[in-house]
Amino acid sequence: MDIVRVEAYVDGSGAPLATITEPPFRLRLDPAELGEGIHVLTVVTEYRDGSSDQHRYVFDVTRKNHTFAGHISQAPLRAPIEVDLVDAVEIENPAPPSVFLYAVLPLILFLGVVAVSWWISLRAESRVADQPTKIESLARSVARVAPTAGAAADGAALYSKNCAGCHGAEGQGMGAVFPALAGNEALADAGYVVDIILEGKPGSSMPAFGDRLSDEEVAALAGYIRNSWGNGFGPVTAADVAARR
Ligand code: HEC
Repeated sequence: MDIVRVEAYVDGSGAPLATITEPPFRLRLDPAELGEGIHVLTVVTEYRDGSSDQHRYVFDVTRKNHTFAGHISQAPLRAPIEVDLVDAVEIENPAPPSVFLYAVLPLILFLGVVAVSWWISLRAESRVADQPTKIESLARSVARVAPTAGAAADGAALYSKNCAGCHGAEGQGMGAVFPALAGNEALADAGYVVDIILEGKPGSSMPAFGDRLSDEEVAALAGYIRNSWGNGFGPVTAADVAARR
């Protein structure tokens, strides 16, 4: 079907992040603009015959050193357009050498410049190529340190980074798909809350956080959502979490 217009909204905001009215209907997003954490992109597509539909893309953006890497953790079925997350490292290209310079300089100098610029561009390329592996190993060493250093886990900060994109900044939920956590009686069962955070909910977009968060962080999160926005279900300890892993 012919697409005439695509609007993309991030995390339920009222103003579109991007509007595309001519082909190619393809969205490129800079993960740095979205910021770290889990995001929901709602893509509203209007077709030539006047019909329209909505699709949700779920993104996970992590900050590694100074660049952001993102991946789509869940692309919707029959998605009408392609969405790319562009990594800053990918767009960085060595500048092409100046043609003018070669035209006016004598042959010897010309060859010298070619040799030098070739050498420089080789070095620049290898530097760009090295970067992702360096970033990966840095990210891994940070990840190794995090669980032991996580003693002072901040539930509110963890919530806004990992959960607010779907469950709302005030735990108010979003639409019919993402349940409200404020005033949600299901949260009275601490074991249920911990299990959901650790394992997610298969068959839904609720992700599993067991691999990326420490016992302290899961406890801080569970405690935070059980005791915020009018909820008063009591604290959760790291030992409670460890017992359910
Ligand atoms: C990508 C979207 C998404 C993110 C991010 C997300 N959730 Fe969820 N969550 C869901 C959906 C969807 C459900 C409903 C699953 C179902 O029952 O089908 C859910 C369900 C839940 C429930 C169960 C609610 C109930 O009424 O049974 C809890 C508790 C919960 N999430 C907590 C969290 C916490 C804490 C985080 C952050 C660490 C988080 N969620 C991050 C989408 C998300």
